[in-house]
Amino acid sequence: MPSVAALAYRAARPALFSVGGGDAEAAHKWTMGRLETIDRHRPLRALTRSVCRPVSDPVSMFGVQLANRVGLAAGMAKNGEALRAWPALGFGFAEIGTVTWHAQPGNDTPRLFRLPASRAVINRMGFNNHGARALAARLRRYGDSAAALRERLGYPLGISLGKSKITPVEDAVGDYVSSLRAIRDLASYVAINVSSPNTPGLRSLQDKGFLDELVAELRDESRGVPLLVKIAPDLTHGAVDDVLDVCRERGVAGIIATNTTIGRDGIAPAERALADEAGGLSGAPLTVLARDIVRYLRAQVGSDLPIIGVGGIGSADDALAMVDAGADLVQLYSSLIFRGPAVVSETAQALKDRTA
Ligand SMILES: Cc1cc2nc3c(=O)[nH]c(=O)nc-3n(C[C@H](O)[C@H](O)[C@H](O)COP(=O)(O)O)c2cc1C
Repeated sequence: MPSVAALAYRAARPALFSVGGGDAEAAHKWTMGRLETIDRHRPLRALTRSVCRPVSDPVSMFGVQLANRVGLAAGMAKNGEALRAWPALGFGFAEIGTVTWHAQPGNDTPRLFRLPASRAVINRMGFNNHGARALAARLRRYGDSAAALRERLGYPLGISLGKSKITPVEDAVGDYVSSLRAIRDLASYVAINVSSPNTPGLRSLQDKGFLDELVAELRDESRGVPLLVKIAPDLTHGAVDDVLDVCRERGVAGIIATNTTIGRDGIAPAERALADEAGGLSGAPLTVLARDIVRYLRAQVGSDLPIIGVGGIGSADDALAMVDAGADLVQLYSSLIFRGPAVVSETAQALKDRTA
């Protein structure tokens, strides 16, 4: 029996998908506007909670208390928008950003494409964001430490860091460090994003030498905030091994697997024309790829390292399969677009039942 949230979203989806003449970014902006309205008004938050029925499943991971095992993946709330709305939708934690040191507009539009028949998204947003300092200022409205924010909001925030487009790759470390200094007191964890396909040269930071220097410097500046590394699904096993060596050696607190893929498998024939759009592919075509990376990671690290599984999780079964492959927590983004918030509590409940 579909939930009220699922039925309501199914009814609203055609209208949402026609916002801006069908432009996906226009629909995203419209949605964020509604979420910010929910964020501002306590009765609307209560109403959202009563429809979405957040699952309480407190769990501690890398020293952070999460409200449940399902998080909002990076990229939706790039500037820390609607922070009181996400837990009302049922998320147990949220990763905000990716932010960069310099505010930047991102790539030219159009840069976001929905592929409904494939339950997929292609994006080449290019880290459009207001910058790490602006994010810090926004977060300080709620508290001046990660603990105060956690207390006030009722769930923890991870902050994802990336490289500014104008900063050359050889100066990337300093760019990340500047961002870290701006937000380190406010983050329950920091995600080091070296895996977005939309910033030229960024993924080369996954190479062992670069990554080692980057993680070492960030570690020195972290003031004890857990650092997680987010990896691409397109890495060979050898490249994953290199990332793991760095993570073990430098005391990384966990891995987030995975970002979007540059591959184009799994796109429905009717949507083949969109496959030529540059950018990262997410959603259903990523489900097995991301899960296989998580399975490989878990086989290499044993029970030691926390893993957040992300990529194509669109149902309770997908989330359970990700946990069976070795993830401790999951995140999602694309399935929110196609299924609405019902997918959040559905997956959180399944994971609660599995681990009870
Ligand atoms: C529009 C869009 C923007 C994204 N922006 C970011 C980002 O800024 N940083 C990041 O680490 N991942 C970003 N991602 C990747 C997601 O966090 C996630 O890793 C990926 O979409 C796979 O999950 P999904 O299949 O549930 O969407 C973005 C994804 C989408 C669809």
